[in-house]
Amino acid sequence: MKSKLIRNIKCLAGIREAETRMVKGREMAVLPSIAGAFLLIDDGKIIAFGKDEEAPDMAEEVIDGTGRLVLPCWCDPHTHIVYPQSREKEFVDRIKGLSYEEIAKRGGGILNSARQLAATSEEELFESAWKRLEEIIATGTGAVEIKSGYGLSVEGELKMLRVIKKLKEKSPLQIKATFLGAHAYPQEYQNNHQGYLNLLIHVLLPQIKAEGLADFIDVFCEKNYFSRDETEKILEAGAKHGLRAKIHVNQFNIIGGVEAAVRNHALSVDHLELISAEDISVLKNTETMPTALPACSMFLNIPFTPARKLMDAGLPLALGTDYNPGSAPSGNMNMVISLACTQMKMTPEEAINAATLNAAYAMGVEESLGSITVGKKANVMLTKPISSLASLPYSFGSNQIERVILSK
Ligand code: NIG
Ligand code: FE
Repeated sequence: MKSKLIRNIKCLAGIREAETRMVKGREMAVLPSIAGAFLLIDDGKIIAFGKDEEAPDMAEEVIDGTGRLVLPCWCDPHTHIVYPQSREKEFVDRIKGLSYEEIAKRGGGILNSARQLAATSEEELFESAWKRLEEIIATGTGAVEIKSGYGLSVEGELKMLRVIKKLKEKSPLQIKATFLGAHAYPQEYQNNHQGYLNLLIHVLLPQIKAEGLADFIDVFCEKNYFSRDETEKILEAGAKHGLRAKIHVNQFNIIGGVEAAVRNHALSVDHLELISAEDISVLKNTETMPTALPACSMFLNIPFTPARKLMDAGLPLALGTDYNPGSAPSGNMNMVISLACTQMKMTPEEAINAATLNAAYAMGVEESLGSITVGKKANVMLTKPISSLASLPYSFGSNQIERVILSK
């Protein structure tokens, strides 16, 4: 990448010391920034920044930041972007009154996508996921976590993870792969849970490790999906294969998933549409990042994660899209921060911290992404001319991102 100098930036936001790996509680209300700034990047890294008067005079490309904000790109720490087809029929069924759980009981939902996936080639999956990645880059995302979980068989899960591996190699985005074989029990194992657990733990995990196909392990810990005990068994097996946990918990019911995750040193606990006082105290002073997915709450019309309760308790919070065909068919992080502000009562600064540094932490990339820090990757976005930081979440539905510079 040639050297780039952005001059006259109206506001350079998200400036952090390298040691700051996440922000919690009250710290989240502050988004350190410089008004009237320059930013110099070279060799894919942030080299220098400061007041525009101190800008160096040499760079291969000079970019005009007048009226514009510059921020670290969004990190999206929770997606299911590799999937075979959209599921509009279920969307219409929900409008007519069926719930997500009722649809799943009738063989829709995750099992519907799994049937479609079995009939989709690796190439087709790659092509459709690639288009979704292009779409999210245009809205300012610079890093994304992608889960398997629509295979639900040895071939299907490996197929998905190989697609993610290829996306990692070819995409300019920083990508992390998560093994979510425990997304749902496939039809043939509905009455043989142990059989499916054996397949995940003794067949898939060793193969995934041998091919280096995953960075993390996930489980949908939920009634009618994976119990707390089953979740713990899978997380323990994942840890033996070097995979840290990032798990789906408390989406519809509280069944002890948060405790199971923390006991297993999970990197993140995601969803948390419901959360108990015990869950909050279990999360305190741990390395586990609570992650909210407000687009899913909106799309399924279920509760929003009580962000203020978490932050008031001194906890950190990250935001992600959950981009998937069933509960959140959008990868737009701008929409996510708007929802966080309007529905979860986060301030724009809190939402932006949650979607950048904390989100980077929730996918294990905070050492190189998520803030404006000398030495971090040049993974930054430039807005169109806008009036203030708050106009990002304020102008929901319109894309205020003018240019995205990626380096991984
Ligand atoms: O995060 N809850 C589990 N998994 C996804 C939905 C998957 C689907 O419906 O295809 C979620 O909401
Ligand atoms: Fe999800």
